Amino acid sequence: ASHASSSFSIPQPQAVTAGAGGAAHYVVLNIAPGEEAENAVRAFFGNAAGLRRSVGHRDDARQLNLVVGIGSDAWDRLFGSPRPAHLHPFKELRGAKHHAPATPGDLLLHVRADTVDMCQELVMQAMRALDGAVQPVDEVHGFRYFDARSMVGFVDGTENPEGQEAFEATVIGEEDPDFAGGSYVIVQKYLHDMKAWNALTTEEQERVMGRTKADDIELPDEVKPANSHVALNVVEDEDGNEMAILRGNLPFATPSRGEYGTYFIGYARNPAVTELMLTNMFIGRPEGNYDRLLDYSTAVTGTLFFVPSEPLLEALAEGNPLADEASAGDAAAAPADAAAAADTAASGALAIGSLKGQPQ
Ligand code: HEM
Repeated sequence: ASHASSSFSIPQPQAVTAGAGGAAHYVVLNIAPGEEAENAVRAFFGNAAGLRRSVGHRDDARQLNLVVGIGSDAWDRLFGSPRPAHLHPFKELRGAKHHAPATPGDLLLHVRADTVDMCQELVMQAMRALDGAVQPVDEVHGFRYFDARSMVGFVDGTENPEGQEAFEATVIGEEDPDFAGGSYVIVQKYLHDMKAWNALTTEEQERVMGRTKADDIELPDEVKPANSHVALNVVEDEDGNEMAILRGNLPFATPSRGEYGTYFIGYARNPAVTELMLTNMFIGRPEGNYDRLLDYSTAVTGTLFFVPSEPLLEALAEGNPLADEASAGDAAAAPADAAAAADTAASGALAIGSLKGQPQ
């Protein structure tokens, strides 16, 4: 389903297709108990883009951006139905040797910029806006490591889709028209056994990864092991087309505590693609042929979020803009509104305004 071949107008996505950034704050929060907390979180959705502008405009050149994600339980609690077609809690994976745990998370703030001060300021402002309404679950500060190296020393992000391909891989289209312009994101925090990893020769590390270390070239097929990270993460649909996700990983580290990690964050139009990659990595393709990178990397978190389009995120401040139509049982409402959305081609915000049945 290519977006380009359709006349359907897709609302403006959040900054899902931005690069990994020179720095990133990955913040996972739970919503506190009570109605007051729910109201404050909904209000934050209405203000998030404005906060990003307030901080980002202090130095536009540093490219501050923000993506807000909503977990499955949080969606039900705040908005009920209708809900995004593929929103569900992260599915834990248990292979013969390695485990991908599912861990809690109602909200994700993925903040990226060229410099850490921009990320820090925006997260501080966000927490001020959310004061008393949320509880911390996990917060990781990632940094760009030389030429986009991961903590294990290999360049990360090379085979990410770009431009229109990145858009097609990450942004929901006509297949779920009420949630078009949205995306799904899976996050996992990994910790590395750096002693064991550093005990490998460079050639051994290259066979774990499936690429060369110094110049980041993919190993030829006859050399690249079937259990290398790259081999197991190339996945195809039934027609043999490669399916892509967009990764915004960065390394993080606290050297004095011996903590070295990779924050994996993968955006997808359908989380089943990311889940297939995870199955290949943890269970193996075929079963037992698991990802050798996992012998040196332990997943300690795992959470899935829906990322609303920019206009939907803003509209969610007033509750679920689609709820009335659904409860009225008007099955024709969604297609009619999709047509209206296509007419207002110039503005994604107007498209959702019409879905919501009132101006923004
Ligand atoms: C490729 C590192 C976890 C999916 C790569 C590459 C590196 C890397 C160095 C090669 C360069 C590139 O194309 O980006 C890591 C590390 C991880 C991790 C350090 C955590 C320990 C994951 C996870 C997934 C994933 C959890 C999916 C769920 C991919 C994909 C590619 C890739 C799709 C590109 C494959 C290709 O088309 O060649 N990763 N990765 N990675 N990784 Fe990971």
